[in-house]
Amino acid sequence: MPATLEFNDGNAIPALGFGLYKVPLEATEDVVAAGLDAGYRLIDGAEFYGNERELGAALAQASSAGTDRDELTVTSKFWGDPEQTPAAARAAFKASEAALGTHIDVYMIHWPRPARQRFVDVWRELIALQGEGRVRSIGVSNFTEAHLQRLMDETGVVPAINQVESHPWLPQHKLRAFHAEHGIVTQAWSPLGRARVLEDPTVQRIAADHGVSPAQAIIRWHLHLGGALIPKSTHPHRLRENLDVDGFSLSDDEMARIAGLETGERTGTHPDDRQ
Ligand code: A2P
Repeated sequence: MPATLEFNDGNAIPALGFGLYKVPLEATEDVVAAGLDAGYRLIDGAEFYGNERELGAALAQASSAGTDRDELTVTSKFWGDPEQTPAAARAAFKASEAALGTHIDVYMIHWPRPARQRFVDVWRELIALQGEGRVRSIGVSNFTEAHLQRLMDETGVVPAINQVESHPWLPQHKLRAFHAEHGIVTQAWSPLGRARVLEDPTVQRIAADHGVSPAQAIIRWHLHLGGALIPKSTHPHRLRENLDVDGFSLSDDEMARIAGLETGERTGTHPDDRQ
């Protein structure tokens, strides 16, 4: 069972889950089944990934085979394009719920789209959904410190989670410290740098020294930082490998060597640049 992280709203999530971004439609049901079978209890989905219906089918299948839905954390996100408005957020929430055929445990704003100046209004709608008991926890994704500060200043409600790109090239130390100060869980997307960081010689050396794979070494690094993460794989043996990270730990020296890999390089869009 993966370790859990406490949210500021009293709920908790597994630190290690798996993500469905770029998992092809036709593979989604098998990937979800393999992930649940491996022992994952958090599945990161989103309207934008286009595979929520298939995720829902896999969840229904797992439930009828005896998996306790209450043990699972299912997340979804409001994409916000073409419209990033409270009404569009509510409609998207309902559509995701219908596609999944089950409740959403954590709902997030997918991108702040700051040029539109609507993310605070949308955040108020998520607060309302939570107040109505429609969703257990609410959070955001791809928010910078400035965006988070605005949410907190203007609504007084601190997001439970901020899901952002993070891997050894982009450790996000400053943002992580801000999250820690405000009780926000950091959840890393593309935690393996879309597999590119697996090629790094320092990561490979550290992994070899522990007799683990580069992916396992990076996942351990994320867990040592105290964050959550959602590595993606379409291969059942990699899903299992990525969860099998409890048998070793990284020394301070190894953490420092990985810290030395920071370049600031992103594999995705900067939060301020998505319109
Ligand atoms: P695949 O889906 O073919 O297994 P990220 O989560 O950082 O976006 O990285 C996802 C990428 O990393 C995918 O290309 C995935 O490929 C690959 N990947 C995931 N886990 C492993 C692993 N344990 N070993 C090698 N590649 C992996």
